[in-house]
Amino acid sequence: MKTETTIQGLNAALASARLARKTIGFVPTMGNLHEGHLSLVREAKKLCDVVVVSIFVNPIQFGPNEDYDNYPRTLEADSHLLADVGCDLLFAPTVQQMYGDHVRKTSVVVSGITDLLCGQSRPGHFDGVATVVTKLFNIVQPNTAFFGQKDWQQLEVIRAMTRDLNLPLDIVGVPIARAEDGLALSSRNGYLTEQQRQQAPVIYQSLLAAKQSLQSGEDLSVVLQNIRDTLQQAGFEIDYVEAYTPHLQSVQQFNQDIMLFVAAKLGQPRLIDNLLVKYIPN
Ligand code: PAF
Repeated sequence: MKTETTIQGLNAALASARLARKTIGFVPTMGNLHEGHLSLVREAKKLCDVVVVSIFVNPIQFGPNEDYDNYPRTLEADSHLLADVGCDLLFAPTVQQMYGDHVRKTSVVVSGITDLLCGQSRPGHFDGVATVVTKLFNIVQPNTAFFGQKDWQQLEVIRAMTRDLNLPLDIVGVPIARAEDGLALSSRNGYLTEQQRQQAPVIYQSLLAAKQSLQSGEDLSVVLQNIRDTLQQAGFEIDYVEAYTPHLQSVQQFNQDIMLFVAAKLGQPRLIDNLLVKYIPN
């Protein structure tokens, strides 16, 4: 596996693949890789000739009181994991390489679906994501890009942006990778103390219980309140527990397929998860 840190180096490394019209699969990440990221790379390998992974902790998607400075940077270990899973090219640019010294005058802003869920508690976050992902798409020029469904709202934002701007690539969403006890894998799980790690699967358990209640006919608002109560009793500080359609339209009742979304803090770490609940008319 090759590693490039500059756009020029990346272009040189991809030149022959581009000339031979090989398909390029792209997995953008912020590093500190875990099985969730590796499942994206495996999916990319299935569908594309050449797989590029980027590792870039993007400063403009972090709020002033968030964990940009402390975000785990584990490039050496990440490179080994990527090489093992068959990644062809790692692109690990510096902030200077991505943003230069000039004042950036352009942002990519996706409206509407960025105002809810994580958009409410992390103002500006999705502008930072959409902007860096557009830049990375322009740099790598992939045929297909792969994103985890754990960040469902991010995936919807990227799909909307790709469609609205006619970006010439396909977007693939890959199912959430979970630990054996159900906790959705996340780089932020590394911040959990041993005791918090024991409590953390309560999020997924409460989502599964909610799914069962909904499918047995329980009212949506009651089910959402039950999730909130369960999480609060387990020591979580809730950011949101909400339901939307898979395309993030609001829903009042369970009369179509819906997604349940949770974001909650357990001490410092903020964890998110989601679950699709299929509507089965009787
Ligand atoms: O999901 C992430 O890791 C980041 O938001 C992304 C898509 C790599 C953009 O920085």
